[in-house]
Amino acid sequence: MSILIKNGRIVTAVDDYFADVFIDGEKIVQIGKDLNVQADETLDAKGKLVLPGGIDPHTHLDMPFGGTTSADDFETGTIAAAHGGTTTLIDFAVQTKGKSTMEGLDTWHKKAQGKATIDYGFHMIITDMAVERLPEMTRLRDEGISSYKLFMAYPGVLYVDDGTLYRAFRQAGLDGSRICMHAENGIVIDEIIREAVADGKVAPKWHGLTRPTRMEAEGVHRSIAIAEVANVPLYIVHLSSHDALEEVKRGRARGVNVIAETCPQYLLLDSSLYEKEGFEGAKWVMTPALREQWNQDSLWQGLQFRDLETIGTDHCPFCFKEQKELGLESFTKIPNGAPGLENRMSVVYDAGVVQGRISLNRFVELTSTAAAKAFGLFPKKGTIAVGSDADIVIFDPDRKETISVNNECTHHMNVDYSAYEGREVQGWTDTVLSRGRVIVQQGKLETRGGGNFIKRAGAGELLR
Ligand code: URP
Ligand code: ZN
Ligand code: ZN
Repeated sequence: MSILIKNGRIVTAVDDYFADVFIDGEKIVQIGKDLNVQADETLDAKGKLVLPGGIDPHTHLDMPFGGTTSADDFETGTIAAAHGGTTTLIDFAVQTKGKSTMEGLDTWHKKAQGKATIDYGFHMIITDMAVERLPEMTRLRDEGISSYKLFMAYPGVLYVDDGTLYRAFRQAGLDGSRICMHAENGIVIDEIIREAVADGKVAPKWHGLTRPTRMEAEGVHRSIAIAEVANVPLYIVHLSSHDALEEVKRGRARGVNVIAETCPQYLLLDSSLYEKEGFEGAKWVMTPALREQWNQDSLWQGLQFRDLETIGTDHCPFCFKEQKELGLESFTKIPNGAPGLENRMSVVYDAGVVQGRISLNRFVELTSTAAAKAFGLFPKKGTIAVGSDADIVIFDPDRKETISVNNECTHHMNVDYSAYEGREVQGWTDTVLSRGRVIVQQGKLETRGGGNFIKRAGAGELLR
């Protein structure tokens, strides 16, 4: 099967030009002006942008958490991602405490295989790591799992102590893998929560009020120091605040190999949402919590000056009815997480490019190329080049939509609310190709399934 995309404006992290793209099978084989080739199908991209498919490096599909399971599985989640212009995601497989990480990997392969519509990889969440099990990490690397997530938050659930952090960091550094860090001092935060609950402060807004930004900054500072000593590339996930960003800048200024991700919710939403009537604020109970609005200017500046390198969603949806409602009695029981996988490209394009905060090239870099480079997917993914996978989004830069759980163009996630309800955005995913297959055409799903597991290269290596 061959496809010719004609008349589009091709934008990558560094290029911006008008040309045709010829795809044969799964790969881009030719790019040029007025290509004279025979194709099985021609797509006209006149007036549209031709972008590398989005890469979301942070999702939690079908994940048991907070006494329930995240509402999107690999079927619904990857279809929603495709509608939103994301063609690769990296999900977090979880190691069950006391069991092998290889078992965790097996479980996640079973969750995804045969269900995914777009390509996917896995990070591995480490919940404990005895010395004798360290060789597992090298085996995981050989299986294409070249990044880990460790948690300073959620004591008693996903939290690991500093000794475990150091052991895992050291082994990952030796293996050429990368560490992703949930940086928040969960031990201190748990004490603050205990005090709040004892005072009867149990409404959703107390989730935000018990998680000071200083405790995020402390976690960032500590993980950077440990990574520096252990000699491993570090990636701070879901960075949410000015205070935390200052610590990233300090680490980078002294030459530590640390990059950081933020998420659309921290760029666009703020803690005033926790003040909504009744239990409504539970929709935005996520960790880190939404911050005071003034933090957003610092985060946008971080994106502009490259102290923040990627935008992931931390998509971890729970339905308001029955799932979020597990915490009706106390915010401590509300499952942490919010939906966003489908909305990422449009909300960032609108708030970033349309509103003049970032260039179009930087938009592509932040939503695709930088994650491909950080997580061993580049140049197979993350760019439009001869030899790369034909993961391509034909994006309408002018189309406006109002995001709503009730708008069938904007909501395919398996969750009963939208974190961005009522938000009008400019910039819309029109047509999506995943390895040369048209999976979404003019907003309609064309193909289900066919997504592959991608074995990723190590940090700094190239995947062809
Ligand atoms: O609230 C969140 N972020 N839930 C998902 C787990 C995590 O910490 O990333
Ligand atoms: Zn996290
Ligand atoms: Zn997460």
